[in-house]
Amino acid sequence: MSDGENTVDLGDPQLTMRVATGVAAVEKLLLEEIKRGQQFVFEKALHLTSAGGKRFRPVMALLASEYGPEAGSEKVIKAATLVEVIHVATLYHDDVMDEADRRRGVESANSRWSNSVAILAGDALLAHASRIMSQLDTHTVAHFAETFEELVTGQMRETQGAGGANPVEHYTAVIREKTAVLIASAAYLGSYHAGVSPENCQRLKRIGSNIGMVFQIIDDIIDIFSDPKDSGKTPGTDLREGVFTLPVLYALQEDSEAGEKLRNLLTGPLKTDEEVAAAVALLHASGGREAALRDAEKYLAAVEEDLDKLPQNSATDALRELTQYTVKRVG
Ligand code: IPE
Ligand code: IPE
Ligand code: MG
Ligand code: MG
Repeated sequence: MSDGENTVDLGDPQLTMRVATGVAAVEKLLLEEIKRGQQFVFEKALHLTSAGGKRFRPVMALLASEYGPEAGSEKVIKAATLVEVIHVATLYHDDVMDEADRRRGVESANSRWSNSVAILAGDALLAHASRIMSQLDTHTVAHFAETFEELVTGQMRETQGAGGANPVEHYTAVIREKTAVLIASAAYLGSYHAGVSPENCQRLKRIGSNIGMVFQIIDDIIDIFSDPKDSGKTPGTDLREGVFTLPVLYALQEDSEAGEKLRNLLTGPLKTDEEVAAAVALLHASGGREAALRDAEKYLAAVEEDLDKLPQNSATDALRELTQYTVKRVG
């Protein structure tokens, strides 16, 4: 798995080979499942699917399967593909909600075609996800229902805003629901379909969830502080939408000149490029990034604790690498 300059080395060459073979099988199945029906539909659904992406969730599912007797089996490949299809569907819908221009280094579907086309392409992917699920079992369907309900709750909670609630607590609930839940699902379904013990399935699910928390905090830092060449997305998207993420929330609480100026500037969505640039400069001058990274450390410690309780093998080492990779994305 690679992302711009960062490539994850999973350590053990045999494990690396198994995961690479698994990812290749996922890529093949993804295309097979999506390339059906009418061309004018599937070309839209393929737009983001074949634009790349880190395939972080399939890798998580494949690694989690390593703890069971059926690691990398056909069911595991289906589960890993299922989670990626759902993920890509949410990206189509998320870009409509966020009015994003770019995704995975290409034009977003809403920008290239329209909001309607982007919503329908996401829906087409959810149809494909349902078919893949029907080939697994009803437990997977029930698990998906819970997962997707939570994910939608997170997107809705974010859209609604914190209101009178504590903004950091609101943010934490949002990212647990909108992001961590699907990475947890990847770990859970990968392990469940490999026949991993229920105890370790739950442990891997929790590891996925806490890695997911780190993943989103880092993603939110990247949205503000990184070069679009590395992220493949337009920076400052969250600020333009009036979505204040963790580094911003901490900067806003700060008793400093930057904090004071930010409180005056960030009273709603930022409309112009100049306003976004001014906010980004103030955020650089604040301690928001460091404060957000300190929170990420807490989730990392929880991941470590669970990893220590798993069998100590090459998959556990690889999960440690994957965890480090989520943090290294910000440099
Ligand atoms: C993007 O996920 C949405 C978030 C939850 C931050 P990824 O960063 O995994 O996106 P791709 O799959 O690599 O494009
Ligand atoms: C992504 O949230 C969450 C889902 C797609 C469910 P963001 O809006 O923060 O993700 P990016 O930055 O667009 O990838
Ligand atoms: Mg977005
Ligand atoms: Mg969003």
